[in-house]
Amino acid sequence: MAPEMAQVDAVIARRLSSDVALINQISHYIVSAGGKRIRPLLVLLFSNALGFRGPERHELAAVVEFIHTATLLHDDVVDESELRRGRPTANARFGNAASVLVGDFLYSRAFQMMVSVNRMRVLEVLADATNVIAEGEVLQLMNMHDPDISVEDYLRVIRFKTAKLFEASARLGAVIAGADRSTEEACADYGRALGTAFQLVDDLLDYEGQTEELGKNVGDDLREGKPTLPLLVAMERGTPEQRALVRHAIEHGEIERLDEIVQVVRSTGALQATRDAAQAEVERAERCIAGLPESEYRSALIYLCALSLQRSH
Ligand code: IPE
Ligand code: IPE
Ligand code: MG
Ligand code: MG
Repeated sequence: MAPEMAQVDAVIARRLSSDVALINQISHYIVSAGGKRIRPLLVLLFSNALGFRGPERHELAAVVEFIHTATLLHDDVVDESELRRGRPTANARFGNAASVLVGDFLYSRAFQMMVSVNRMRVLEVLADATNVIAEGEVLQLMNMHDPDISVEDYLRVIRFKTAKLFEASARLGAVIAGADRSTEEACADYGRALGTAFQLVDDLLDYEGQTEELGKNVGDDLREGKPTLPLLVAMERGTPEQRALVRHAIEHGEIERLDEIVQVVRSTGALQATRDAAQAEVERAERCIAGLPESEYRSALIYLCALSLQRSH
């Protein structure tokens, strides 16, 4: 997909520009650091898999990357993160105020771009997705430092904050291709399942990943007292002492005991359980697109499932 992605990068570069110097500086800072560009890839793979090759696909691919980038700028402020894509975060480099405001610029630029596509259904999908992402981040805020949330509460957060944009990206590929409603839903279901797997793996990597590979600081979730699946499973399966350790860490955000916690999530099988949950989501994703016409694009979508499980960054 490299040639197509290069076209998306061209749209991104063109649409990023502003007369306000600080906007250009910060938006280029985060965009030029790269990122995997998975969401735009979904727009392109689905539109191609359904036979659509119009220029709107590049515009919408850039739109979902802008929305994603805006959420990252805001998320790193909220999470007080210091490393993103192997560089100091925008908030670490330029401050919280500038990050939040440039995030707003990117959101609103994304809305200008989607209006230019002139399709009410496209606006509806993206307005809904953006709204749900915000709900997910707020729900997560409410769950912070709470060791008693259920696995369902956790899954709801990740479906909202992460899977929703994957779902919207896949769905948009189908919408612009003029797919019928059941095909559109199958594509959306794939996106939701892949996005859920993607966040499960992300939460796993926060305990077993390497900062250098990840480009984000390992242990950030624990430092924040974020009750993710590895910790929920570890509390369910651990000895009373292990449970008390994890509970205390969630309540107080104890990064100093990260090594001990990693030991517990590993020895209780909580990391493996999280990986198994991601595997099940990916299998669901693969089943969703079994009915699409056979093509190299559909094969790439299946390959993306495997990659999302194996990823180390
Ligand atoms: C990071 O998303 C936020 C999550 C949903 C985990 P990505 O892992 O897609 O971030 P980049 O764009 O590749 O940096
Ligand atoms: C991802 O959440 C942010 C959104 C999807 C809005 P996280 O806070 O878990 O992701 P990272 O680890 O900062 O990338
Ligand atoms: Mg974060
Ligand atoms: Mg966050």
